[in-house]
Amino acid sequence: MKRYAGFRHGWLFFDGCCNSNMNQKDFMRPNDNVNKELNGIGAAMENRKIRMGMVGGGRGAFIGEVHREAALMDGQIELVCGAFSMNAERSRESGKDYYLPDDRVYGSYQEMFEKEKALPDDKKMDFVAIVTPNHVHFPVAKAALENGFHVVCEKPLTVTADEAEELARLVKETGLQFAVTHTYTGYPMVKQARDMARGGQLGAIRKIVVEYPQGWLSTFLESENKQASWRTDPKQSGPAGALGDIGTHAENLAEYISGLKITEICADISTMVEKRKLDDDVSVLLRFDNGAKGILHASQICAGEENALRIYVYGEKGGLEWHQQEPNTLIVKQLDGPAQIYRAGANHGGYLSSSAMYNTRVPGGHPEGYIEAFANIYRNVASTLRAVSAGRKPTPDEADFPSVEDGLRGMRFVEAVIASSNSRQKWTPFK
Ligand SMILES: NC(=O)c1ccc[n+]([C@@H]2O[C@H](COP(=O)([O-])OP(=O)(O)OC[C@H]3O[C@@H](n4cnc5c(N)ncnc54)[C@H](O)[C@@H]3O)[C@@H](O)[C@H]2O)c1
Repeated sequence: MKRYAGFRHGWLFFDGCCNSNMNQKDFMRPNDNVNKELNGIGAAMENRKIRMGMVGGGRGAFIGEVHREAALMDGQIELVCGAFSMNAERSRESGKDYYLPDDRVYGSYQEMFEKEKALPDDKKMDFVAIVTPNHVHFPVAKAALENGFHVVCEKPLTVTADEAEELARLVKETGLQFAVTHTYTGYPMVKQARDMARGGQLGAIRKIVVEYPQGWLSTFLESENKQASWRTDPKQSGPAGALGDIGTHAENLAEYISGLKITEICADISTMVEKRKLDDDVSVLLRFDNGAKGILHASQICAGEENALRIYVYGEKGGLEWHQQEPNTLIVKQLDGPAQIYRAGANHGGYLSSSAMYNTRVPGGHPEGYIEAFANIYRNVASTLRAVSAGRKPTPDEADFPSVEDGLRGMRFVEAVIASSNSRQKWTPFK
């Protein structure tokens, strides 16, 4: 049955759950995971769970717990080992919380790679999840790739673009899989937004506004809050504060949904809280490769805001609006017509795109959120690992997770924004 979406300028046809107007090749390839060489790396993965190790995420850590919940959600992955803390004793205590055998809980990531590598194929971990502060991502990811393990790594990928380049090179050389957890790409309604924007339903895109305000660093929390303390320390966070922490998510989301590339930026970054060592407020004007213009703002001193990531994409015929705090809703706007409200739901296949449906778990009205978005990334990574290990090309939906190239782009963005903000000429190329 064909369905009609009410854009005044050109009626659009939906065939079942798939939008037949979309050019699959264009919008289903946010990264190049699908085109990787199929070299059957790693032990066979049919008929068993995929084995995950973790670096970071010990007691009291934030995102490690989210990763564990998300990775295990679909029953595809199991946690088999970890080096959960930079403190060996704390790592061992944390391993007990997850009921791991003592001999699979390590005092350091170096020990973990060494010992895991020596285990038989039917026991050793397949991939490592890196959930440490930023400065630890690079050495752990590099060691993982050099020892033959696939990687899921937190953002920002590294602390310099050079390090990120090196990881991208190693991924190419080894053929190993590498995901970067730009979480927001995992939401069903972000997939829907991407498919509509890239599928031409808004017409040529002219304007993108992406806002990422948080308020939690409005005061000097560095000495009393662990997460604040390393995020504001250049030795652990890298050269960027809010810019690396949340600005990279905003940059990634704008490019992921629109399919466009930012080519030039004009930035103004500030440190509003006295004695803070890194930026906590970021404003950037954007120019995209099709001539579209944009505005990106990322800030951790917007008092009272929680995690208010929002994006607005406008084309010649209509627009889209998505709010992370209301993630199951996508507002679709049309020139000279009423806005429509699209809702995530496993029973909404009549109008949602096939990839939005692929990443939806429950019927409409049963909220899906942050952990499910993370779980979609893990589920897609697991499917890709299974496909590659079987010598099969992953489908576009399976391969749909942020790649090492996306992580590298985030690091180039960080460096370009800092260069622009420090410059007098302001407009700075971003390649
Ligand atoms: N994708 C997202 O939405 C999202 C959200 C929050 C944080 N993050 C990212 O996740 C990472 C961790 O952030 P967090 O808030 O969970 O930090 P956290 O401080 O809560 O946890 C960091 C953990 O890493 C451990 N660690 C540090 N050095 C280590 C080492 N050498 N070996 C083993 N473990 C080590 C610490 O002991 C701690 O357990 C950061 O890169 C951050 O940017 C991403």
